[in-house]
Amino acid sequence: MKTLMDYTRAEDWVIAEKAFNSELLDKVEAIMSLGNGYMGLRSATEERYLKETRNLFVAGTFNKFHEDEVTELPNGADLISIEFFINGEYFTLDKGSYRDYRRELNIRTGELHRCFIWISPKGDEIDFHFYRIVSLKDIHVIAQRVEVKAINKDLDIKILSGIDGRMTNSGSQHFTDGEKRFYHKKYMQFIQSTTESNIDFVHTSTLSFFKGNMSFEPESSTIMDRRRIYSSFKVSLKAGEGMTIEKVSNVHTSRDLDNQGLSLEELQDKALKELKSAEAKGYISLAHESAKAWEETVWNSCDISISSAEAFDQLAIRFAQYHLRIMTPYHDNRMSIGAKGISGEGYKGHSFWDTEIFILPYYIFTNPKEARRLLEYRYLTLPGARRKARENNYRGAMFPWESAWLEDGEVTPVWGSADIVTGMRTKIWSGFIEQHISADIAFAVWQYYMATGDQEFMDTYGYEIIFDTAIFWTSRLEYSEEDKLYHINDVVGPDEYKEHVDDNAFTNYMAYWNIEKAMEYCDHIKANSKEVYHRLDKVLDLRGAYREWLDKKDKIYLPRAREEDGVMPQDKTYLTLEDIDLSKYKKQEQVGLMFLDYNLEQVNKLQVSKQADIMMLFFLLEGRFSMDIKKANWNYYEPRTLHDSSLSLSTHCVLASDMGDRALAYNLYKRACRIDLGENMHSSKDGIHAASIGGMWQCIVYGFGGVRMVDGHLRIEPRLPEAWRELSFTIEWRGQALRLTIDKQKLIIENLTGKEEVTFLHGGRTYRLLHKLELAMNDKK
Ligand code: BGC
Repeated sequence: MKTLMDYTRAEDWVIAEKAFNSELLDKVEAIMSLGNGYMGLRSATEERYLKETRNLFVAGTFNKFHEDEVTELPNGADLISIEFFINGEYFTLDKGSYRDYRRELNIRTGELHRCFIWISPKGDEIDFHFYRIVSLKDIHVIAQRVEVKAINKDLDIKILSGIDGRMTNSGSQHFTDGEKRFYHKKYMQFIQSTTESNIDFVHTSTLSFFKGNMSFEPESSTIMDRRRIYSSFKVSLKAGEGMTIEKVSNVHTSRDLDNQGLSLEELQDKALKELKSAEAKGYISLAHESAKAWEETVWNSCDISISSAEAFDQLAIRFAQYHLRIMTPYHDNRMSIGAKGISGEGYKGHSFWDTEIFILPYYIFTNPKEARRLLEYRYLTLPGARRKARENNYRGAMFPWESAWLEDGEVTPVWGSADIVTGMRTKIWSGFIEQHISADIAFAVWQYYMATGDQEFMDTYGYEIIFDTAIFWTSRLEYSEEDKLYHINDVVGPDEYKEHVDDNAFTNYMAYWNIEKAMEYCDHIKANSKEVYHRLDKVLDLRGAYREWLDKKDKIYLPRAREEDGVMPQDKTYLTLEDIDLSKYKKQEQVGLMFLDYNLEQVNKLQVSKQADIMMLFFLLEGRFSMDIKKANWNYYEPRTLHDSSLSLSTHCVLASDMGDRALAYNLYKRACRIDLGENMHSSKDGIHAASIGGMWQCIVYGFGGVRMVDGHLRIEPRLPEAWRELSFTIEWRGQALRLTIDKQKLIIENLTGKEEVTFLHGGRTYRLLHKLELAMNDKK
């Protein structure tokens, strides 16, 4: 597919669209979306197009449209539309013609800019510049600025803009129509409440007009309609004359922590007051404040610098860091990160293992406070996890495969897309039997603890999660009289192309690890933190749980590598399934091509994997397996993995790098970057791929930078791609900030905090670092 994207201004931190096509809107809407973790605003244009998707989501405001559906993030009112009628003609780029088009997102400042000269069908030429931010400084604020200049003719312009609550989630209307107010003939306010969760959304908005530096009041009228309030303005411009429109809006909800305890009336007053003060600052200073927040809170603390033959490599990781920030609800530990961030309707805003396994490491190593907050979210969802276990006749905490609001429990939809063979809907089994997520969360808790040493977190939240997930696993194990071992039957492992399998290696090993870790920590707190032990014993019956762990742990069936070739079965039957020629699908440019030829039931019977599965096991528990075993399995499974899930490429990239295949690792990194940034103009239609974005950071820091936590220890084993001259980045380990600079000859590590000695492994040796170390790199490895 021909791409409209342009990344040539990489050094200016700019991703751009160089031409406009109203048939291809969705990619740019998603990859250039704006946000701040509180809200996510898709970058739809000010004027309307048939194929647009206008989305404004506020994190954590889940609602259920109908009792037979699962909860989802509702699409809030549209605040950004500004429509122009120029000399009677509705302005859209589909009419007349245009020149000098460009739409750019500056990821350093978080500002969106669009400009072009539009030539109307009547020949009127107008110079347009549109600017927009969602403030990182004040998370409730959206600001826009439009500069319009009449080039060759006098113009009569009518402008329509306001608050439009006629938005839906693909047709599902999550709100009841609420009060509309027009204050002081200038400020519009629109309230709507979610139908089931009863969350009030207060949208407030105002427009201001300027010629030069002088503000003016155009002739206007305001209309209140079903589910919307908007104003109509009339402005005349002489040829050569310009004007500026600024629209400032804010969004508040009754779910927001900073609005707790306020009545709706108080909330309306607060929103109005805040809007007036934002309006008084004006667009330029709001944009400046927000850019400063980006500099101070994101780029100054976690800048990654790549000196590569291809400038795109640097741009791509900044793009990832930009999205990681806007998708993460820093402001509230009752929320997590959605699989599409908050940039689209995809996956309904739900969180998966994507957060803990693919995104959390970024925070653990760059912003541990934020990592902790994300884990606190899981702690707060424990009641739902316990409920899910009970409902399935298990004990302990069985975390939902898809998670939304704290009490929601399991929210995976039951039905998916059409089956090519039967024409019926496909059942989604993940919510029932994709259970490894409970161990993944326990693993993430441990990883956070190892990297930070945050004992208070463990005492308050961490141990309880590890113990209660281990309790779940002991209740989940199934004893077989045949081999006198415990098995985990009928699951979906990470590879979702294998449903209802027994003894998925990843699941069994992770369950074993979970129980083993629980026992270790139980022994530890019993001996050293009696208060914590007694408190948790009361809640979880640790004594009883421990007896069961002791009894079952060493009888868990753990698949072993085959004698003849070192290949480990991904599950009980995988290696016996039909092995077909997959080359057609391995070369695919669009994911899921196989489903044009086979249905899921047929794919289940073939040796083909959607995504990293056993490789994931080697990645997480890498200290447990030898390099020979990893290589043997890599050679077997990589050719059979289609990477039909965007999560998969980064794991394979890191492992390829570990195995010394730099060219393949670099190629996989580039493919991972291109999931959202690549040529395909539809790949991000439902939102950006959050886990893949986290995975891009893992490719660089875990893969090429070689930084890993192995068995609780920091290990640094860099391997730069050929095209890279230098890579430098900062990580945090046990409260010390470490700056790593890597080139082909050497690795320099500086302890920027310099308060405590850091121990790490490199080249099979243990090093201690208080200030600075320079180590020679054996680049041949
Ligand atoms: C993948 C899962 C992932 C989910 C959400 C699925 O396609 O197979 O591993 O958690 O998408 O990103």
